[in-house]
Amino acid sequence: MIYQVVTFGHEILRQKAVPVAKVTEAVRQLVRDMLESMYAAKGVGLAAEQVGHTESICVIDVPRDAEKEACREENAAVTMPLVLINPEILATEGKQRNEEGCLSFPEIGAPITRADKVTVTYTDLDGARVTVSARGLLSRAIQHEVDHLNGILLVDRMSAMQKMSVSGQLRRLQKNAQEE
Ligand code: NI
Repeated sequence: MIYQVVTFGHEILRQKAVPVAKVTEAVRQLVRDMLESMYAAKGVGLAAEQVGHTESICVIDVPRDAEKEACREENAAVTMPLVLINPEILATEGKQRNEEGCLSFPEIGAPITRADKVTVTYTDLDGARVTVSARGLLSRAIQHEVDHLNGILLVDRMSAMQKMSVSGQLRRLQKNAQEE
């Protein structure tokens, strides 16, 4: 099933995700639906809140060729799509600054500073605890989606100046959310 992605202004995006106690068939179905919804929306990542759920789950699929050459080898060990259940960032290293967007903020993007490298531990679909490291775009996607699970949004990572430059679009999204 394809969910319509929840946009900025909806209260659920501000909720902190609830840890998944057990990877049940319902959890696996939600993951399938999240992947389907992410691909339909042409996104590279999606968190449960964005489809109206509060489970601590996010999905990511960063195309290899979207990644800078230098990062490809390092990220090669991570199989796509990446399904993170109860993710927890263990360590970060370095800095990167690149354009970032979000399906909950259609047509809004801004250069955002993130850690270059991230190490994240999570539960996989078999219920096993796994730890991976990533750099570049994949690292950015992981940090962005884990933010979602903590109720932190793209707008919170923008500078005052960046927010000002998209204030009209933000207001419109909020107004639309109130009217829904
Ligand atoms: Ni997002």
